[in-house]
Amino acid sequence: MKILQIKSSILGENSTSSKYTTKLVEQLKKVGDVVVVRDVAEKPVTQLSGKVLGELQDPTSLVSREHNTLIAELQSADVVVIAAPMYNFSVPATLKNYFDAITKAGVTFKYNEQGQPVGLITNKKVYVLITRGGKYKENGLTFQEDYLKVSLGFIGLSDVKFIFVEGLAMGIPPEQIEANFKAQLG
Ligand SMILES: Cc1cc2nc3c(=O)[nH]c(=O)nc-3n(C[C@H](O)[C@H](O)[C@H](O)COP(=O)(O)O)c2cc1C
Repeated sequence: MKILQIKSSILGENSTSSKYTTKLVEQLKKVGDVVVVRDVAEKPVTQLSGKVLGELQDPTSLVSREHNTLIAELQSADVVVIAAPMYNFSVPATLKNYFDAITKAGVTFKYNEQGQPVGLITNKKVYVLITRGGKYKENGLTFQEDYLKVSLGFIGLSDVKFIFVEGLAMGIPPEQIEANFKAQLG
């Protein structure tokens, strides 16, 4: 089994979302499994622009090859674990750039004869680990996870489990944060 861990925190070694996704990977990992780490903060995916859109018309361009590499890496994974810290109410821009790269007509989605979108990446379990300084889930502010759910579902990844590590800036004891995390794994 291949586990793809996608990190997106700007905080490097001090990242909470990286720490908890690594804990999750350790939990999921069995002997012989391969873990591939894609860190989109350390190595940002090219941001879309008019120029980049033009370059994407050429399948041999650098950016086309970059996107193809990311898509192949995703396609070959059995399990995907995504770290999604909340930055200013949304996902990090680098994670958005990643989704912009992997959402590719004819490759990761298509439109069927009825004009409906069909996701082309299937048979994967996805875990999304959301970290936040505040607490949003209990207040029903779900736009961050909604964006991720829609983006993943559009390319066929509909088996998604969200895990929330919230209230990190609210003085909650670390043991309680850890216990809340563990309680969601079951
Ligand atoms: C640039 C930046 C913006 C943030 N914006 C929010 C926010 O809008 N809401 C919130 O609850 N926490 C916010 N936080 C706190 C982070 O969500 C929290 O510290 C989380 O653990 C970050 O994950 P990381 O350590 O993996 O980067 C922000 C943190 C940073 C660095």
